[in-house]
Amino acid sequence: MPIRKATAVAHPNIALIKYWGNTDEALRLPASGSISMNLGGMTTRTTVEFSPDFAADSANVDGQDMTGAGLDRVSRHLDYARELAGVKQRARVSSASNFPAGAGIASSASAFAALSLAAVAALNLELSERELSSMARLGSGSASRSVPSGFVEWYGGATHETSFAETFAPAEYWALTDLIAVISREHKRTGSTEGHTLAGSSVLQQARLDTAKERLARCKAAIQHLDFASLAEIVEVDSTIMHAVMMTSVPPLFYWQPETLALMEAVREWRADGIQVLYTIDAGPNVHCICAPGHELVVQERLKSRPNVLEVLKAIPGGPAYVVADE
Ligand code: PMV
Repeated sequence: MPIRKATAVAHPNIALIKYWGNTDEALRLPASGSISMNLGGMTTRTTVEFSPDFAADSANVDGQDMTGAGLDRVSRHLDYARELAGVKQRARVSSASNFPAGAGIASSASAFAALSLAAVAALNLELSERELSSMARLGSGSASRSVPSGFVEWYGGATHETSFAETFAPAEYWALTDLIAVISREHKRTGSTEGHTLAGSSVLQQARLDTAKERLARCKAAIQHLDFASLAEIVEVDSTIMHAVMMTSVPPLFYWQPETLALMEAVREWRADGIQVLYTIDAGPNVHCICAPGHELVVQERLKSRPNVLEVLKAIPGGPAYVVADE
């Protein structure tokens, strides 16, 4: 009987060009491509064990047993691996992240990337990085980007096989630092799975999609040329366009809080003073302040001195998701 247990580790990622809206909700095929940076130092570690002794799938995340829709989502993901392997055994999943839940870092990206690698390894399947990225995408779109290393592009794609992410610059290519200003730890009211379904109801989404290719190309070129000024311009506008779509969807989604907006303004002022920092915001109020090498300490100090910033988390470009040997 082969060993049917494996552990994998993955990093969350921050989108520099955002993903918002799908052309196929079930397959999570995005309406446009996106670009991200893995968040090194932040990890989710997941163990999957298949056994004929288990009557049903179970999952424990950060010490809490999952139930209901959350557990169903994990089970469906395991089904994908079980079908590939021709196996019916149920599984026990145990997962822990070293970054705080509800801090505005999408744990579903690292969670589904680590779950994909661990389930595939436990079943002794051989999948390429590209196939693992497509598989992770089925659990959470942004998880496709947590499989490859460093700076990553997710090609939108029109089918399951062609919608995957790959590295275009390694983690060591540019020593950026992401300082995450935590403004609220409240759990978001509308999660991204539901949010994606609303994107098309905004009259701005089509304009966003029509111009997405150009922003993707400019963002990629800015990273390849280590051009921080261009990166700042394109990343900030892309984040704001996504939020404009969110705010004008039916029903509308407002993720910003007053301090979110205040920080956006502060970051632009700091940059005008010569500090190389830019902001980007996901589906929550917290602000990712991305700093060029050598500029992170001054930004950290300024963020920490703001009374409405509860905490500042730090990440540097991270490597790929990987299976932990000998477990
Ligand atoms: O992967 P999801 O379904 O959690 O969607 C992520 C959506 C954003 O974080 C807002 C943008 C992105 O590209 O990561």
